[in-house]
Amino acid sequence: MHGFLQTFSDVLFHQLDVSDPASVLYLAQFIKTKFGRLDILVNNAAILEIELEPDATDLLKQVTDLYEMAKECLNINYYGTKSVTETLIPLLQLSLSPNIVNISALYGQLNFIHTKNIQKELSEVDDQTEEKIDQMLQKFLNDMKENKLEENEWPTQLAAYKVSEVALNTYKLKQI
Ligand SMILES: NC(=O)c1ccc[n+]([C@@H]2O[C@H](COP(=O)([O-])OP(=O)(O)OC[C@H]3O[C@@H](n4cnc5c(N)ncnc54)[C@H](OP(=O)(O)O)[C@@H]3O)[C@@H](O)[C@H]2O)c1
Repeated sequence: MHGFLQTFSDVLFHQLDVSDPASVLYLAQFIKTKFGRLDILVNNAAILEIELEPDATDLLKQVTDLYEMAKECLNINYYGTKSVTETLIPLLQLSLSPNIVNISALYGQLNFIHTKNIQKELSEVDDQTEEKIDQMLQKFLNDMKENKLEENEWPTQLAAYKVSEVALNTYKLKQI
């Protein structure tokens, strides 16, 4: 037990909400002031969206909640991770051996997205990729709002989680 405490005695913590730009900036400022650079960034933050209860009585409320949850899921899993990464890149560039580790999921494989054209477009990594990811996420949210997920061949189980992980993996390819 003593050894455990000794090992972690010089760990410093800082609060972070990846979906809050001010919080991300505070963390960057903290790292800059304390260490002057960043050697490794591990992007682990992610949430799952809730699933619809099969015997739900207030279906409209559940669908609205699900849509809001999907937006939050994309905001944290994809946009949050992207914002943290882009904000911290200048500090990583001051390191002699910078590393970024994005924790992803099997659900982030592109073959979970069957929507016409989107799979093909995202597999072509080029300068337009970020714009294409944004377009994909917007189309996904629109289809979800209009109850067209199944019709447009999106995943129907853990849909926002899968789409956010695909977006993150595609973005990761662009970073390399
Ligand atoms: N569990 C699995 O089977 C599995 C499989 C494949 C991949 N993964 C991936 O592994 C990673 C970790 O997942 P996990 O299973 O360990 O889930 P978890 O226990 O729920 O951990 C998720 C972490 O994300 C943090 N987080 C959530 N929202 C955040 C926000 N807005 N800002 C900052 N941090 C936030 C949570 O912090 P708080 O606790 O403070 O809320 C928590 O520490 C995720 O990227 C996930 O996609 C998990």
